[in-house]
Amino acid sequence: MESHAFAAAPAGSPRIESLPVEPLLTSEFDADPGSVYQRLRRTHGPVAPIGLMGVPVWLVLDYREVLEVLRSESVWRRDVRHWRARAEGRLPKDWPLLAGYEVRQTMFFDDDEHRAARRTYHSAMRPFQDGHTPEGWELRAAVARYADELIAMLAAESGTTGFTDLMAQYTRPLLLMVTTKLFGCPVELGDEMVMDLWRMLDGGPDAGAATARASAAMTRLAAHRRAMPGDDLTSYLLLSDPTLSDEQLGRELFMNAVYLNDITGNMVCNTLLEVLRGNATVRRSLSAGMIGETVNRAALVSPPVANMCFRFAARDVRLGNYWVRAGDIVSPSVAAAHQDLLAIGTSHIVDSTISTRAHLAWGAGPHQCPSAARELAGMIVTTAVGRVFEHFTKAELTLPPDQLPWRSGPVVRGLRLLPVRYELSDRSPVRRPVPVPRRGDVVALAPAPHTSDRQAHGLLSALRRLMFGARRSH
Ligand code: HEM
Repeated sequence: MESHAFAAAPAGSPRIESLPVEPLLTSEFDADPGSVYQRLRRTHGPVAPIGLMGVPVWLVLDYREVLEVLRSESVWRRDVRHWRARAEGRLPKDWPLLAGYEVRQTMFFDDDEHRAARRTYHSAMRPFQDGHTPEGWELRAAVARYADELIAMLAAESGTTGFTDLMAQYTRPLLLMVTTKLFGCPVELGDEMVMDLWRMLDGGPDAGAATARASAAMTRLAAHRRAMPGDDLTSYLLLSDPTLSDEQLGRELFMNAVYLNDITGNMVCNTLLEVLRGNATVRRSLSAGMIGETVNRAALVSPPVANMCFRFAARDVRLGNYWVRAGDIVSPSVAAAHQDLLAIGTSHIVDSTISTRAHLAWGAGPHQCPSAARELAGMIVTTAVGRVFEHFTKAELTLPPDQLPWRSGPVVRGLRLLPVRYELSDRSPVRRPVPVPRRGDVVALAPAPHTSDRQAHGLLSALRRLMFGARRSH
């Protein structure tokens, strides 16, 4: 890549507004994004002009260019106010992606404001980062316990052999339970918030209203924890930065809830899928007991954040075969960059059991997923995946992999469902599950020593309706 620092684009080099653009979000992209990236790369090189719901955007496709954009914060800005088309009022009215980018929170801060927010996250998340602190240890134990309880509930509902959707009946409820624990949600707020996050992630007709309610609930949670601090992320964020208003903390919590549920959930299911579809190197690392490596390999093939959040050029800059103008919008595509990396290919990345940490699934540069969040999410994913293969002797996809339904948006690529036929291991303790709680049951699932455990059991019984009641028809 040629980079001409501080040079202005030469007269006559095309502006994105003057180029024909191919809309990205098509049914072909839904089914097979890889072939779309390849075609764009063949036509345009490492950077391609595309249309996103009627707005022209530069899609960055090659590994080297994606890394360059992610790393260089002086050239590639996050604050939406740098976007020229927005400043000049040229965006279509109600462009659906704009509202999210207008929300002022860490992901869209630059410079000092961003560095201060990162410091707040760093100290607030540190207690949960590993199992060496009481909070970290308790959270780890809770994740494993919730996973076991969900599999026990599955055994009670559907038998020790049967069919399940590992997205709706395992991954999603697991992460919602983890969210209430990590965020310190009181029961009266937790249940409804979790139901609304479920509706939001489901993307059904009530998703818009549910999103607004969930986001308002985060502000109430912030106010609650300001008044009654506990050993949870919300309280620790306030401890790190007492100047955070309830509204600002609510916005941060909401963004974290999306990462913790949607993105982490996709990483769990994408990893399970790579194992189930028989990806040889992924399976090899799993049988070698290298589960962290299994997750890395799956992230390389199928990163949960497929295309990173937008960046805006601070000045004219040459990228790939084009000149990107100051104020242009770019979307760095991690999925395309991984495809490029695998093609450069180097069979040692794909074939060996040596680490594949070159993946960009956690991002890179100053906005990379904070290290404590990476540790935390990595622990959740490895526990969730590990418990499935510990309890099940058999798990087979009930649909051919190329017929699985995907949710392909401008940012995230995740499965809508992960249907499997399973058989529980003879040795699995969940073969003899304790009775499953139903809504209104007086008897708890098991004696629960901590308030938070009783809370999780209550939540589990509320979630049961969503997990086994209306089986979705996506
Ligand atoms: C498997 C799960 C996760 C993945 C794959 C992931 C991935 C990412 C990526 C790619 C970014 C950078 C986005 C960009 O540069 O455009 C990011 C940022 C971030 N993530 Fe994660 N994340 C995960 C889980 C989490 C969790 C569980 C939390 C918190 C509880 C979290 C908190 C954050 C925060 C606060 C940022 C913003 C950092 C900044 O802008 O400086 N993430 N994450």
